[in-house]
Amino acid sequence: MLSTGLGLVAALAAVPFVVAQDGSLTGPTSSSAAAGYSCDPNQCKLPSCNCASTSPPGGLDPSQVPQFVTFTADDAIQSYTIDAVNQFLGSRLNPNGCPVKMTYFTSLNYTNYTLVTDWYVAGNEIADHTMTHVGTPPNDEVMGNLIALNALAGIPLPDIIGFRAPFLNYSVDTLTMLHNAGFTYDSSASASLPVGADGTDAFWPYTLDNGLANDCLTVENACKGNPKLPGFWEIPMYALFDQRGAAGVHLMDPWLDAANGNSNPDDEATLQYMQSTFSDHYKGNRQPFGLYTHPIHLATDYPGVPAPTPTINMINDFLDWAQEQDDVWIVSNEQMLAWIKNPVPVSQLNNIPEFHCQQPKIDSSKQICNGIPQNEAGLVEECMFTDFPFYTCYGCPTDPPTPSNPNPDQSNKTQTRHRISSNCTTAFWDPVQGTCLCEGSSCQYNDLTQAIGPNGANLTGGGSRSSLPTPKASNFNGAADLVLSSASVAGVLGTAVVGVVGAVMGWTLVGI
Ligand SMILES: *[C@@H]1O[C@H](CO)[C@@H](O)[C@H](O)[C@H]1NC(C)=O
Ligand SMILES: *[C@@H]1O[C@H](CO)[C@@H](O)[C@H](O)[C@H]1NC(C)=O
Ligand SMILES: *[C@@H]1O[C@H](CO)[C@@H](O)[C@H](O)[C@H]1NC(C)=O
Ligand SMILES: *[C@@H]1O[C@H](CO)[C@@H](O)[C@H](O)[C@H]1NC(C)=O
Ligand SMILES: *[C@@H]1O[C@H](CO)[C@@H](O)[C@H](O)[C@H]1NC(C)=O
Ligand SMILES: *[C@@H]1O[C@H](CO)[C@@H](O)[C@H](O)[C@H]1NC(C)=O
Ligand SMILES: [Zn+2]
Repeated sequence: MLSTGLGLVAALAAVPFVVAQDGSLTGPTSSSAAAGYSCDPNQCKLPSCNCASTSPPGGLDPSQVPQFVTFTADDAIQSYTIDAVNQFLGSRLNPNGCPVKMTYFTSLNYTNYTLVTDWYVAGNEIADHTMTHVGTPPNDEVMGNLIALNALAGIPLPDIIGFRAPFLNYSVDTLTMLHNAGFTYDSSASASLPVGADGTDAFWPYTLDNGLANDCLTVENACKGNPKLPGFWEIPMYALFDQRGAAGVHLMDPWLDAANGNSNPDDEATLQYMQSTFSDHYKGNRQPFGLYTHPIHLATDYPGVPAPTPTINMINDFLDWAQEQDDVWIVSNEQMLAWIKNPVPVSQLNNIPEFHCQQPKIDSSKQICNGIPQNEAGLVEECMFTDFPFYTCYGCPTDPPTPSNPNPDQSNKTQTRHRISSNCTTAFWDPVQGTCLCEGSSCQYNDLTQAIGPNGANLTGGGSRSSLPTPKASNFNGAADLVLSSASVAGVLGTAVVGVVGAVMGWTLVGI
């Protein structure tokens, strides 16, 4: 394993962008005929049912609809990947002055659990991507991920609602298992045709009450009414298209692809088609626009690997450009679904609680596990496993979690931490006393949400990234300075040599 890891460092340094990608499409994955989809909007009604449709939910006119941008990340959460995401989102705000949020589909090999806690407490969505990154995942890979994230990162179970299949390799059985397990959504399917194309499969997120309507040419036994999973949502991954239109399709990490039939990736060409695809959505029915990333490809502090600075700047230029347009919101899937279930006009987005930014008031002297470094000081332990030592505030386990044993006993019996209890629905957990803090009305929040529009006196988020330094592996909404004004993020700098091998393997072996 060690030699594999080091070999990959060398390979990566030499040819950083020639990595075979998962999530690459070669053509349409569906057609109207293959979909054989029908759904009666008079029977299928929000909030629990939504027909697959290219029109916005709730019968809203597109001018009343937010243009959502979903920035997602997949695979292991480590300092390198969190830093990589921070450089794009760390200082951006939505039109109501709240920090933007994102969804992280987390797999657990080489994940540093304490950073998952931080990320979640910063307001981001943590979703399931199996424990060890396997395609067509068995039940224990999916459920074990929930158990381990709950036990070692303190993520409340009701807040892990989404799933993406490794390699986007899902089946009807996967969707059925997720529905039976109480997940709210899957986001593994692709919308593979441009929004303007005849018979496009670029549907707004929809429920599977009438079966799947995407990937009908690629997923066995799907579509034509199957699988029927009432109330279970599919959030399609919306492809991007270069000058070749439907023939020039790009999905994940588009900046790693060559565009327009050329043989090498070219940031300018990528920027151009990211903008043209965005505009097609924005000027049309405003289907969500996604940037689906494996952030390790955009890391700047990864030992031995040159930072892809021009590509990073290009992506930030794109986000600035997008955010300077009215009604553009960068959101997590969870936020987007909250709006789809309750589709108010964009001027009323603040009526939806998920769009608020609320900072809990936590006594900075309290020693608790809550994703805030000041509170966690002295509680976070380093768990010295040879493959990948990780950190957790919830007590090191005797062995790394596995699908057959996702929550091993704690190793140090003299310092037993209480794992978060199933009825604690916030991350504010005192693992020493075993009590849930900040529960319901006992928790005081500062609501920092502003009226929509203050950012540049119009409805834009403004796209500011120039004035703030890139935060290093901190919570990108500034949760670190919730209580103390000094936004110290001590202890989260990614310099541990031990992490290097694991981190490399984290993205290559698990491959994306
Ligand atoms: C893991 O987290 C610890 C504690 O925050 C940090 O010191 C360390 O650098 C992190 N390592 C990686 C590779 O993420
Ligand atoms: C993808 O799924 C198919 C069908 O279930 C399976 O045969 C194949 O091994 C999977 N590929 C990966 C990479 O998991
Ligand atoms: C909104 O503000 C941005 C940034 O200040 C600006 O570029 C854009 O033109 C403004 N839009 C309108 C409609 O005023
Ligand atoms: C991931 O973890 C599992 C369980 O500990 C282990 O069997 C597997 O080898 C690991 N995968 C990689 C790629 O290291
Ligand atoms: C176990 O916990 C005790 C008490 O906090 C601590 O002093 C000791 O270093 C811990 N041992 C290990 C191996 O982590
Ligand atoms: C939560 O569960 C614990 C035991 O696991 C129990 O003592 C406590 O009263 C419960 N709290 C609530 C609010 O139900
Ligand atoms: Zn993956």
